Amino acid sequence: MNNPHYLQPVRITDNVYWVGAVDWNVNEFHGYRTVRGSTYNAFLILDEKITLIDTVKAPFKNHLLSRISAIVDPEKISYIVSNHAEPDHSGCLAEVAALVKPEKIFASTAGKKALLQHYEFDQDIEAVKTGDEISLGRETIRFIETKMVHWPDSMFSYLVGDKMLFSQDAFGMHLAGSALFADEYEHDILHWEAEKYYANILMLYSGKIKQLLEKLPEFKLDIKYLAPDHGPIFRRSEDIAMIIGWYRNWVDLPLSRKAVVVYDTMWHATEKMAFAIADGLRDAGAEPHLIRIGARDRSQVATELLDSGAIIAGSPTLNNQLFPSMADVLTYLKGLRPQNRIGAAFGSFGWSGEGVAQVETYLRDMNVEIVADSIKQKYVPKTDDLQRCYEQGRKVGEELLRRLKK
Ligand code: FEO
Repeated sequence: MNNPHYLQPVRITDNVYWVGAVDWNVNEFHGYRTVRGSTYNAFLILDEKITLIDTVKAPFKNHLLSRISAIVDPEKISYIVSNHAEPDHSGCLAEVAALVKPEKIFASTAGKKALLQHYEFDQDIEAVKTGDEISLGRETIRFIETKMVHWPDSMFSYLVGDKMLFSQDAFGMHLAGSALFADEYEHDILHWEAEKYYANILMLYSGKIKQLLEKLPEFKLDIKYLAPDHGPIFRRSEDIAMIIGWYRNWVDLPLSRKAVVVYDTMWHATEKMAFAIADGLRDAGAEPHLIRIGARDRSQVATELLDSGAIIAGSPTLNNQLFPSMADVLTYLKGLRPQNRIGAAFGSFGWSGEGVAQVETYLRDMNVEIVADSIKQKYVPKTDDLQRCYEQGRKVGEELLRRLKK
């Protein structure tokens, strides 16, 4: 195949190369603000049956082919494994398969179905299930279905000889960089981006991920390399233990003293209320985190909420409705369903004031337990009004501390 190799692969082991793409400039990922860009990781295994694990987002097809071409002629690829059908990993799969003409394409049963519902293929896709193995010659790949982590089709592939787990979205993060391995990044950046990824992509599936983590020992995996489809690859045992440890903590959505106060404001009246509420939270022993939507985005709110015990949300009323920006963030959070949080609602209004009740409805729909009365403020809060806001924050903070002591 005539495909100039203007981009280079990265060697992981003697037999496995990273051949994916770095998307430095992507900043929006179906609602998730990816301020550090992302990567679409794909891997080439050299063996008697040369095997490609996953592909990349469609516009990066030539990056993939270019990196592969630096190692082998892509037409020599025998097998393609698709661990996940979402288009950031399968967007160029059908086109690549048409060029390469592999002997076989493997996906989970749900993956096969999803791929055929997305694309047209010239060949059949072979469905595999948990425990199935394929031989590449010297090497073996074992499959583990990971349904709803985070799509129905999601699957892990484990390369037995090299002890490498290709974990698709799980353990990933949206982090573009020139380095491939986790030990080449600062710890705090890894933690924030992994936490943000978990909160925005996986929080809703925490129960399924908990089950998967509990079941993992049954598969007797000796993981020397943990290779997700986004962000860095983990190659040191302490880093693998670190990311799995983070997940073991996040799946329980544990409460903390942190309390998110998220609001938007029209003429700063709702904002004054937010400041007073934050002081009440602080004086009760909680740790308020104020987020004004607009200055921060919905993905950051979700991330802060992952390890918060409370959410207090505020909105002005505009044309009989809550602010559009608050409807946006609360709709987003409702979908992620953070569990066991407590909270309250507040906001300023001019003449009708429906916004606060709408905020409270959103919070209840998220299963947030409302532990303090909502506060509706006519126009601008005065000293007495701000005292009521302070008391609301204090009441939520005291209740949070009481629950943490249980
Ligand atoms: Fe990275 Fe669910 O796709």
